[in-house]
Amino acid sequence: MTAALELDAVKKSFGGVTAVNGVSLRLEPGRIYGLIGPNGSGKTTLFNCITGVERRDAGRIFFQGERIDGLKPWQIAVKGVGRTFQVTRVFPELSALENLLVVTRGDRAAAERRGRELLAFVKLEQLAGEYAGNLSYGQQKLVEFVRVLMRDPSLVLLDEPAAGVNRTLLNDLLEAVRRLRDEGRTVLLVEHDMKVVMGLCEVVFVLDHGDKIAEGPPGIIQADERVIEAYFGR
Ligand SMILES: Nc1ncnc2c1ncn2[C@@H]1O[C@H](COP(=O)(O)OP(=O)(O)OP(=O)(O)O)[C@@H](O)[C@H]1O
Ligand SMILES: [Mg+2]
Repeated sequence: MTAALELDAVKKSFGGVTAVNGVSLRLEPGRIYGLIGPNGSGKTTLFNCITGVERRDAGRIFFQGERIDGLKPWQIAVKGVGRTFQVTRVFPELSALENLLVVTRGDRAAAERRGRELLAFVKLEQLAGEYAGNLSYGQQKLVEFVRVLMRDPSLVLLDEPAAGVNRTLLNDLLEAVRRLRDEGRTVLLVEHDMKVVMGLCEVVFVLDHGDKIAEGPPGIIQADERVIEAYFGR
């Protein structure tokens, strides 16, 4: 089967800092994967390389078998790669619904229907007309999350979607992520909360100083010596 995403020895440095040091990984379609690692280990940089926000220095990136490294971010997005940002980016002066419409073109009525459906998907339909700036932090994260879905991506990259989200909203989010998988989409999420990782991910990749140091089911990863060392060893 063609991989949803394949990275072959992807490398990215900033001046003297090697943020991603030749990382290879493969995501099968329709599964939820985790990407973990200590602060500064290269997780967000890897997302930026995949989505074209940063240009990788070396290595190859394939989306559904097709090479995407070298494409512009919008080209990669149009192909079906969606992502959220670690620092949430909603427009506070626009309503929740309008925040979803900013990424769409063409049929406005259809986009609105889709937007309302997606807000309902995360139980925010009552807040469609509310300024995003008036929503709680967790609600804003959910708005950003469903905005990614407006373009119907087959691969969804989530950068710490659960951070700072309260328990109720977190459960809505986890349920929504599982539903994405059930719809056949592939999900890769960066997450520090091991409970979330354990509850969601089938396979976890671990980065440390830009190196992939482990890969496997979360239960095994948690007990891996190198992983424990990376998190607590220094
Ligand atoms: N634009 C940039 N310019 C210079 N250095 C950068 C840049 N982006 C990231 N880095 C460096 O690259 C390394 C990896 O950073 P990155 O943000 O990818 O880590 P991370 O795993 O996402 O960390 P966190 O868990 O804190 O979000 C760090 O040393 C960071 O300082
Ligand atoms: Mg990060």
